[in-house]
Amino acid sequence: MKQGLFRIAENRPLTEKVSRLCLEGDCSHVGEPGQFVDLRLEGLFLRRPLSVCDVEGDRLTLLYEESGKGTALLRTLPEGTVLDVLTGLGRGFDRSLAGSSPLLIAGGTGASPLYGLAKRLCAEGRDVTVILGFATAAERFYEEEFRALGVTLCVCTEDGSYGRAGFVTEAMDRPASYFYTCGPKAMMQSVCARAETDGQLSLAVRMGCGFGACMGCRVETISGGRRVCKDGPVFGKGEILWDDLR
Ligand SMILES: Cc1cc2nc3c(=O)[nH]c(=O)nc-3n(C[C@H](O)[C@H](O)[C@H](O)COP(=O)(O)OP(=O)(O)OC[C@H]3O[C@@H](n4cnc5c(N)ncnc54)[C@H](O)[C@@H]3O)c2cc1C
Ligand code: FES
Repeated sequence: MKQGLFRIAENRPLTEKVSRLCLEGDCSHVGEPGQFVDLRLEGLFLRRPLSVCDVEGDRLTLLYEESGKGTALLRTLPEGTVLDVLTGLGRGFDRSLAGSSPLLIAGGTGASPLYGLAKRLCAEGRDVTVILGFATAAERFYEEEFRALGVTLCVCTEDGSYGRAGFVTEAMDRPASYFYTCGPKAMMQSVCARAETDGQLSLAVRMGCGFGACMGCRVETISGGRRVCKDGPVFGKGEILWDDLR
């Protein structure tokens, strides 16, 4: 873990609620997709955790959805603002298990860590398929960015206003060697139940410290309580006891 100052190079809305935040600073500890960073925002006691979407050189890209006080404040910050950021938090996705044809399934801003993961899996020469799920056509983002990686892409909307109509699980009708998923709890639970292969998921739960000291992010797993910030946020398919998850 490393604490550093990052300058906002871009803070641009992609949809009504989702924005892309590009930060410039020392990215040497940022880590792998699935790991996260924790932003301090003026006037707020707790930092706000966001998944690493992409990192290139000294530029870190994050995607965030406005969902409360902190993310609403973040949306107002202009280019040039300096943020205090903890980098290198959590355990990211394990790519060694991906096999030749991994399937990546995202709901909403769950697309953020899966973008960086897809980029690395493609660079390793794997045949990557991505399913992106949104409620409506107006809420979709990063379709072109995923396509540019060379993945096979399927976009689903729940109301059928764009792409394939229905839930992402209905598009899991293709052979795959392994899966990775990130999105709302109910979606990931359904993905795990539907998947015919083993896989990994990334959990977003409320956090306190973000680095393993307070137990505020504890979840129940088949091998006892685990801290999402330190032991996760990435867990294996069969590990989480979903009924105990807040
Ligand atoms: C490991 C991890 C990775 C994440 N990655 C992303 C991402 O890439 N993009 C994105 O849009 N969101 C992501 N989230 C969720 C994001 O942290 C929350 O949406 C954000 O903290 C909400 O803050 P707020 O002040 O706007 O909301 P408020 O509701 O005002 O926040 C109050 C408190 O609850 C916490 N909180 C609220 N909603 C969530 C939530 N869904 N998950 C976790 N904590 C929450 C806040 O951090 C804060 O401490 C991630 C969460 C975790 C734990
Ligand atoms: S948030 Fe403090 S231990 Fe995880």
